[in-house]
Amino acid sequence: MAKPKKIIVTGGLGYIGSHTVVELQQRGYEVVIADNLSNSSASVADRIGRITGETPVLEVLDLSDRTACLRFFNIHADAGAVIHFAAAKAVNESVHKPLHYYRNNIDALLYVLEGMEAVGCRKLVFSSSCTVYGQPERLPVTEDTPRLEAMSPYGNTKRICEDILSDTVKASQEWKFLALRYFNPIGAHESALIGELPNGVPANLMPYITQSVAGLRPALQVFGHDYPTPDGTPVRDYIHVSDLAEAHVAAMEYLGKPGFSGMDFFNVGTGRGYSVLEVIQSFERATGKKVNYEIKERRQGDITQIWADTSKASRLLGWKACRDLDQMTSSAWKWQENLARAK
Ligand code: UFG
Repeated sequence: MAKPKKIIVTGGLGYIGSHTVVELQQRGYEVVIADNLSNSSASVADRIGRITGETPVLEVLDLSDRTACLRFFNIHADAGAVIHFAAAKAVNESVHKPLHYYRNNIDALLYVLEGMEAVGCRKLVFSSSCTVYGQPERLPVTEDTPRLEAMSPYGNTKRICEDILSDTVKASQEWKFLALRYFNPIGAHESALIGELPNGVPANLMPYITQSVAGLRPALQVFGHDYPTPDGTPVRDYIHVSDLAEAHVAAMEYLGKPGFSGMDFFNVGTGRGYSVLEVIQSFERATGKKVNYEIKERRQGDITQIWADTSKASRLLGWKACRDLDQMTSSAWKWQENLARAK
């Protein structure tokens, strides 16, 4: 049997990256992780190894350092494809540190592409975000829904990176790119050995809920109760991180299909929206734990509602999310409990 292809996963110790590494290894791929440990820990590689039986190769480097990045690609010149997660991702932080976000997220993509070009590796899956749609006029959003002006430097880096890939493909059809536009990933691997580990006070809903219920944070603040939605709280398309990880493997394999060249975009969500209060109710139902919360003012920059049309991913990638909201919330709690026990 042919040796499985080597796949480079940048940011592979992070939340979505680590779950994707597990899925790749479980399908027989050899994985090399490039990570700068800025928002992750090297111990995640060992945890991945405990799940899959094989600790992935880890190279600690900053991809926005051009020399280091090109050296890395020369060492791993036999890689068949790249899944590029490495990026700074905190929306609010990006408003206060725009230069850091542009430098970090855009330089890293440019140097990764230069490194790939130097060794003849032409396939890349890019982490994009539904943030590129802003608040769309019509729901669900399809991949053809127009992109709107970004509401944060973080969102703008996603939009610019999509454009960099599109322009690169226009110049040379040898490249094969897919941009996956994630909706709201939550939950954790069923083993509870890997999950989301935000730095400091979580800005996102699910990790705040789990840390609050664990007694590490005050009551959850529900930002706004007067939105034009069924219960007044904003609606998002939450997706289990393991479903999202599986989408990356499907995307990477799609790039290798004969006839595919150029660039394409896919929404990666479940196709169903839930409100903040519905997420809280799911958490309470699935875990038997009470979520203490108070209704507060709207958070600046939040959109009212969004959910995905996922039919393109289902048709072309043969992928569909299969885990429900209760599986998302209960797995997030299991991970939080496991973390508490590990301390
Ligand atoms: N929320 C609260 N309280 C909190 C945290 C969040 O009520 O403490 C609410 C928010 O107001 C929002 C919902 O929970 O209505 C989801 O908020 P998140 O912060 O979890 O997620 P966002 O939809 O704001 O952001 C996500 C990703 C971003 C991405 C964006 C695209 O985290 O990376 O979707 O729309 F840019």
